[in-house]
Amino acid sequence: MQIKSIEWADDSLVVIDQTQLPEKLIYLKIDTLDQLLEAIQKLKIRGAPLLGAAGAFGIYLGIRNSRADIYEINNLVRRSYDKVVSARPTAVNLKWGAEQAKEAAQNQVEIASIKKAALDKAIEITLDDFRRCESIGKNGSDLITEGGILTHCNTGALATCGIGTAFGVLWTAHRQGKKISVFAGETRPLLQGARLTAWECQQLGMPCTLITDNMAGMVMRKKLIHIVIVGADRIAKNGDVANKIGTYSLAVLAKQHQIPFYVAAPLSTFDFHCPDGESIPIEERDPDEVRGGFGKLTAPKDVNVFNPAFDVTPHEYITAFITEKGISKPPFQF
Ligand code: MRU
Repeated sequence: MQIKSIEWADDSLVVIDQTQLPEKLIYLKIDTLDQLLEAIQKLKIRGAPLLGAAGAFGIYLGIRNSRADIYEINNLVRRSYDKVVSARPTAVNLKWGAEQAKEAAQNQVEIASIKKAALDKAIEITLDDFRRCESIGKNGSDLITEGGILTHCNTGALATCGIGTAFGVLWTAHRQGKKISVFAGETRPLLQGARLTAWECQQLGMPCTLITDNMAGMVMRKKLIHIVIVGADRIAKNGDVANKIGTYSLAVLAKQHQIPFYVAAPLSTFDFHCPDGESIPIEERDPDEVRGGFGKLTAPKDVNVFNPAFDVTPHEYITAFITEKGISKPPFQF
């Protein structure tokens, strides 16, 4: 089954509520910018490339019902942009998508065409991301012959508008008949690996083995892993990568075990204004996600918690980057 995580249908944005998976597959209808912001902040919609498309739709949703004059509509475009961009700070795609839609809208001189341009751009970004994922999948699969591949978090159809980035590479290799065995790290604290990646594998009929995050060293030492492939939320100019918390630990472990460590991402995840990982803003989330994110206390309710949603992997740990343009290393020449 092809999973469609975002779609413009019947004048609404339709997305999968990812917080309900794997228990329930529920589609949400989003009609206002406030609903979209809530969905982004609660991770009903998540994953960097998907956030790129969502960010662009945010600009349209922010203006579509307004009856203001052209001057006010342009202000509303700017205010919607500011709201979208501050919804989550780390994935640069969110800003990238919102910026594209804002610029498309700002190039127009009539209210109807401002609204249309923002919507058209959001739809275009969605279709474009689908194609980028296909190319990333093919380019990455060329690096794979067979063996164990460890991935982290969720980088599949749920995180993108297509087959995924790192996940798209696994899926492409699998479809090409390569004998790979996928290992998915569960990804504490919100279990995107367990809830989403394992679910996607099952939907597609691609076998996968779920491990808890603290098993990574052991499976590498046992020589079950031949490649690690992860996604990214922001790639700095020097190649440092922000991705889901736990990625850095995997990169260090991979280096220790001489396992190639690849990052798969579209160009929309590269931030050339950001010189290095130190400059990437890292989102910190509610401590209750760690104390018991799924309705049951798993720690004392008042224990002190540190809950960064992402970490930075320095570029020295990354074998290469898999993009829609091919395999790259810094300094990037796109
Ligand atoms: O907090 P999330 O679930 O949005 O984090 C997602 C990730 O870290 C993904 O690995 C990243 O966005 C790449 S998705 C193709």
